[in-house]
Amino acid sequence: MNTECYDVIIVGTGAAGLTVALELAQQSPNSTRSENLPTIALISKGPIHEGSTLYAQGGIAAVLDEDNDSIDSHVKDTLNAGAGLCHQESVQFAIEHAKESINWVIDKGVQFSKEDNNSDNYHLTREGGHSHRRVIHAADATGKALSEGLLAQVKKTANITLFEHHMAVDLILSPASSDSEKQCVGIYLLNTETNQVDEVPAKFTILATGGASKVYLYTSNPDSSTGDGIAMAWRAGCRIANMEFNQFHPTCLYHPKAKSFLISEALRGEGAKLKLLDGTPFMHKFDEREELAPRDIVAQAIDFEMKRTGSDYVHLDITHKSPAFIKDHFPTIYQRCLSFGIDITQEPIPVVPAAHYTCGGIITDLDGKTDISNLYAIGETAFTGLHGANRMASNSLLECLVFGKAAAEKIKSELQHFICEPLLPPWDDSRVTGSEEGVVVTHNWDELRRFMWNYVGIVRKNKRLLFAKQRIKLLQGEIDDYYRQYLINSDLIELRNLVTVAELIINSAMSRKESRGLHYTLDYPFADDKKYLKDTILVPRNFTS
Ligand code: FAD
Ligand code: SIN
Repeated sequence: MNTECYDVIIVGTGAAGLTVALELAQQSPNSTRSENLPTIALISKGPIHEGSTLYAQGGIAAVLDEDNDSIDSHVKDTLNAGAGLCHQESVQFAIEHAKESINWVIDKGVQFSKEDNNSDNYHLTREGGHSHRRVIHAADATGKALSEGLLAQVKKTANITLFEHHMAVDLILSPASSDSEKQCVGIYLLNTETNQVDEVPAKFTILATGGASKVYLYTSNPDSSTGDGIAMAWRAGCRIANMEFNQFHPTCLYHPKAKSFLISEALRGEGAKLKLLDGTPFMHKFDEREELAPRDIVAQAIDFEMKRTGSDYVHLDITHKSPAFIKDHFPTIYQRCLSFGIDITQEPIPVVPAAHYTCGGIITDLDGKTDISNLYAIGETAFTGLHGANRMASNSLLECLVFGKAAAEKIKSELQHFICEPLLPPWDDSRVTGSEEGVVVTHNWDELRRFMWNYVGIVRKNKRLLFAKQRIKLLQGEIDDYYRQYLINSDLIELRNLVTVAELIINSAMSRKESRGLHYTLDYPFADDKKYLKDTILVPRNFTS
């Protein structure tokens, strides 16, 4: 890789990375000189389109039907789902900027589903927690439309240079950083095809690396969701918040060959019912909103019924809708299920909950600024306070867009005040050798994800958390040794990051001695507002305020 200094390095090419890249690349409204355009490196560790964004199904929440819906209502639903922990100013900020962000996306050429072929009106669907139809979507493949639309623009933008198959390993802080103020001046970057590591300088670095749901054995997420940004920021000295709130999506397809395939909540938005294997509906026993209760409630209800009846899955039934409606609104889901021999127009779909979304992350302000100067975090890797103890469906892509745009504006206004650090500490691998013990990495990957699922999953207990903590300590020791002795590769880097993230999740879960939102523990089954109506903030040893 050419290690020239970039104005901005963006790590991640999902909705967050693409949005901030496109906004940064544009001329500032006040500037007239084209030579002032910032130089941007946009990096993805795998193929450029890979990430959770590509697989998003349901849509993007925004108040678009102003006759029947309102900002206040969207705010209220978000606060309700967040179980008392959303930050009001963040919620207000995201939702007030939602419509403008959707228009920006449409302007970039992304197409959403209309009410019918002859209509100019967008079809709005409904999902759990929303009291109105307010989710704009591209059939059941919204993420694909968004990703392809924004990527097409990025590829046409001369001042954005794309680097696929390059993985950020760690952040580089200025050697001149004082104890009281740290500054990020670039990253160490691994070319995953050659295994060479370069130091890449930049005036600003943005982490848009997505979530960490791969820490669990069963997940709706693609392989890229290994919490790299959170782990890198933690090692560098950023505070991390609310990692105990891992969202489990209630309905992933249960089939031995269907790795990670989600069955969108929009099916429940269109009336699909959850049923036991004998056909009995059960959601009415858990919440008056039934199938449209927020996700924490639905996932916990399914988990409860699966354990009670001893079944490996439950059913989701949308056969009350006509085959034409189902094929038109859910073409991807229809086709994928059919490929496994399940005709969803005729029979119920076997579903199970799976890890889906990381509500916690790197603490940022409303511009995406972290605790470290010139380091920003956007999208699922960030903690903006929007989601509280439980993210409401379709508020995540919204967060990527709104905060991505805000970060770009802020960085553009500050770029001129910074120069590149001339000399970065070089990557030193002079004391390590190639490993012939790759089995250590694969074994530890499996062990970690399995005990996180069993001990730190949907329903928690003190004792299980303690077992998990003991195991994490052992794994960490082994992986640190391995990291110090052998040349790195992408599997090792991801495992090292996952273990860090797992420890943050366990520590956060152990410190919250109550049940709230996505954190449910049998030892403290109720919310305790007196003690715990606050974020869980983890402060690294090297944190300087
Ligand atoms: P991602 O889209 O995950 O992108 C992360 C990027 O970071 C990737 O390019 C990856 O290669 C890169 N990366 C990571 N680590 C490194 C590293 N070390 N070095 C270099 N590159 C790195 N939300 C909604 O609002 N509506 C929905 O309908 C919806 N449906 C969903 C359906 C599914 C199946 C899933 C999994 C999620 C869904 N979500 C939905 C959640 C939403 O899609 C994600 O939260 C959102 O797309 C995250 O975007 P992002 O840009 O933060 O990260
Ligand atoms: C879905 O389509 O069910 C996913 C929506 C989301 O995660 O926001």
